[in-house]
Amino acid sequence: MEKPTVFVTRRIPEAGLRLVREACEMRLWEGALPPPRDVLLRDVRDCAGLLCLLTETIDAEVMDAAPRLRVISQMAVGVDNVDLAAASARGIPVGHTPGVLTEATADLTFALLLAAARRIPEGIEHVRSGEWKTWDPLALLGAAVCGATLGIVGMGRIGAAVARRARGFDMTIIYTDHERKPHLEAELGVVYASLDELLARSDFVSLHCPLTEETTHLIDADALRKMKATGILVNAARGPVVDTAALLQALEEGWIAMAALDVTDPEPLPAGHPLAHRADCIVVPHVGSATVAARERMATIAAQNLLAGLRGDPLVHCANCAR
Ligand code: DGY
Repeated sequence: MEKPTVFVTRRIPEAGLRLVREACEMRLWEGALPPPRDVLLRDVRDCAGLLCLLTETIDAEVMDAAPRLRVISQMAVGVDNVDLAAASARGIPVGHTPGVLTEATADLTFALLLAAARRIPEGIEHVRSGEWKTWDPLALLGAAVCGATLGIVGMGRIGAAVARRARGFDMTIIYTDHERKPHLEAELGVVYASLDELLARSDFVSLHCPLTEETTHLIDADALRKMKATGILVNAARGPVVDTAALLQALEEGWIAMAALDVTDPEPLPAGHPLAHRADCIVVPHVGSATVAARERMATIAAQNLLAGLRGDPLVHCANCAR
């Protein structure tokens, strides 16, 4: 039987690639950077399946360029780069990979929170530059994490996993979401608050909401002004949830104390961007899910979603299917 042709937009962990290679005629973009738009439009043309990453814009134009497309499978939980409505209108299921990167992303969030609170990058720089001359009672003083108040914006899987970690630090945990989560309130002792209340009360504000029209620039100048001057903002969600220009102003003018970002807008953040060079801003290159185990599981589920869609079976995880 003829194997279906699929386009895989980057080399992914072998665990997933092997499944695709065995079942499909695989066209793999081998570049280190995402395929240019014209290549994407060209290489998807005769494909029944597309396995893509969050770095590609998968819109109606891509779908129309591939009239035989039966499934789109993204190796990520977030699918803000995929036009879900356009896919649904064409009857194309869109797979994604929730669950398997929750703990890795929550770990990274906590690493950022701790690194910002205790000024770890500045400490490393202190040693490397030879500034470390003595034990100094006044040097590199940071913020206490244990017992502080953590505000979680978006109490989904990752938000809840961050809350579980915060309990180990005896933090008071408040959260906001589009709806209350009574089961998590009972399980984790988290307390619901409006966004305004959360911003005003939290020592750490950690973002875990999906990027949608409603959450784009949710953290704008107004929101940043509502945070404590000692407050620390952590973003492990999507860059555009934060208004970058407003964040820069907030740090420059001391509206907040620090920011720690796994995601940025624009992304990648240009090396010369002012946020990349501030002691009060930690930026890492979107590595929330970057553990060997998480990336292998993401690749496997992305492959399984692709193959299920090609067979016409329900996807393991579908972002636009009726539940
Ligand atoms: C996702 O899955 O959406 C992350 O941002 C990358 O793993």
